Amino acid sequence: MSVKRSILAAIVRQFHHPRGAAGNVAGWVMAHRASNRRRNSWVAALLDVQPTDRVLEIGFGPGLAIAELGRRVGPLGHVYGIDHSDVMLRQATKRNAAAIQAGRVTLILGTVDQLPPALDGPFDAVLAVNSLGFWTAPVERLDELRRRLSPGGRIAIASQPRCPGATRSTSLEAARTITDLLQDAGFAETRTEILDLDPPVVCVLAVNHPDAARGRPRTS
Ligand SMILES: C[S@@+](CC[C@H](N)C(=O)[O-])C[C@H]1O[C@@H](n2cnc3c(N)ncnc32)[C@H](O)[C@@H]1O
Repeated sequence: MSVKRSILAAIVRQFHHPRGAAGNVAGWVMAHRASNRRRNSWVAALLDVQPTDRVLEIGFGPGLAIAELGRRVGPLGHVYGIDHSDVMLRQATKRNAAAIQAGRVTLILGTVDQLPPALDGPFDAVLAVNSLGFWTAPVERLDELRRRLSPGGRIAIASQPRCPGATRSTSLEAARTITDLLQDAGFAETRTEILDLDPPVVCVLAVNHPDAARGRPRTS
């Protein structure tokens, strides 16, 4: 592998699973990059979270979307997050310390592959921002998340491709892939929203209609 390619692979690894000092830097970049900040607050707004909603974010990173969502829920709502990086857990916990202290936010170290009982739900909304691309077996994971949503519960899966040379067509291709994954996992009413950054952010929203998904075998 060339030096350039191995450096690129090391950077991608840090966004997949931030670890140690390099992971701290990756988290700082995610938290301060203007496009990341806009991406996260845009997705949180699209979910239209109500004060009583119970919301779950997978792969919260430095906790930008958690912070937005934590401002939207009231005493009867709650925001949960899970991320497999202890470095991200530390950064997001610091960023959301007041909301955690106030009992509106709970952040958990763990993987989407094995959601802990604390995340059995039911949830009113689930989101993942630039995270699903890292999951193994995404249809199975989305199916499990759908089963943790209440009837009519919403999901938002957002992607802003960060590969070198990514363009609008890369983003649109990502939206098509996410739509297929959500439909394969039994979600209904898929629709795509686009935020015109460079490259654009796509967010595919969908709804859990248990009647439509009834009788489906579990995907795992
Ligand atoms: C590129 S970062 C995006 C972070 C954040 N959502 C944002 O947009 O700022 C991807 C995040 O997903 C987390 N992640 C990746 N795979 C995961 C998995 N299988 N389970 C839980 N978290 C995961 C990583 O640790 C990382 O924090």
